[in-house]
Amino acid sequence: MGALGYIDGRIVDLKELVVAMEDRGYQFGDGVYEYAKVYNGKCFSLKPHIDRLYRSLRELKIPAVFTYPEMEEIHERLIAESGIENGGIYLQITRGWAPRAHAFPDTVVPCLTMTIRPSAFDASQWETGVGVLAVPDERWLRCDIKSLNLLGNVLGKQKAKEAHCYEAIMIRDNMVTEGTSSNFVIVKDEVLWTYPVCNLILKGVTRTRVLEEIVPDLGLSVLEKAFTVEFAKGADEAFLTGTTTEIMPVVSISGKPVADGKVGPITRKIQKGYKDLIAKECGLA
Ligand code: PDD
Repeated sequence: MGALGYIDGRIVDLKELVVAMEDRGYQFGDGVYEYAKVYNGKCFSLKPHIDRLYRSLRELKIPAVFTYPEMEEIHERLIAESGIENGGIYLQITRGWAPRAHAFPDTVVPCLTMTIRPSAFDASQWETGVGVLAVPDERWLRCDIKSLNLLGNVLGKQKAKEAHCYEAIMIRDNMVTEGTSSNFVIVKDEVLWTYPVCNLILKGVTRTRVLEEIVPDLGLSVLEKAFTVEFAKGADEAFLTGTTTEIMPVVSISGKPVADGKVGPITRKIQKGYKDLIAKECGLA
């Protein structure tokens, strides 16, 4: 019971995991991934995660060799065999193994690996809120694909960590695109502002569920429009959305408090709406 891995149809101890040295994911970052949370022994939002996985695969012309029922079954097997009630499942599909050459090999079999781990998240942050650091967005131009190439994200997150911030928000052409592993939303005069869906951000599953299933019930408007970091610093409230991050209040941006530096009432309502979604879908009381 505990963290486990999956490779080639087998569930294995994580230490046993072996990947081919010439796997294209390892050598080129030639692959895609997803990450879904498990609450009460059930996968949350699995369908939209797998739909996005198929889209990422299509965009990179990697054949989708697993059907949705198969993907669902492997997730359930990992949960059952690990005994993990609350955790996260990471999955990645690389183009597969072939002698190293940049262009796609003629024949290659995609390689699926997965891991499940218990949650290890400091829940007090959802209460107190966190600081974020503005950094340049140094990523490539297909941030809509959830690809394994995450160096821009990794370097941004490291800068945030060194500045004792939870997350970095990234700036491209003077506008805030998103966090390194989350989407970024601000509230100004009861309007939610967030970067529009395009090639420059990942269309977060959490972002979509918040905008489509929670915000309409709160009577708030949404504006999918780019804004500067200066504008964000003058917001009434700000928060991050993401599978791990859930709804994370942002109380300072690059050291400047957002409004009075306390978690705002709209963010609290959205946190509550998100909790309710999880409870409904994962059978919590
Ligand atoms: N990251 N933007 C980026 C760049 C991300 O990496 C993520 C998710 C999100 C939020 O997407 P979602 O709501 O679907 O989790 C936005 C995952 C959790 C990760 O890298 O582990």
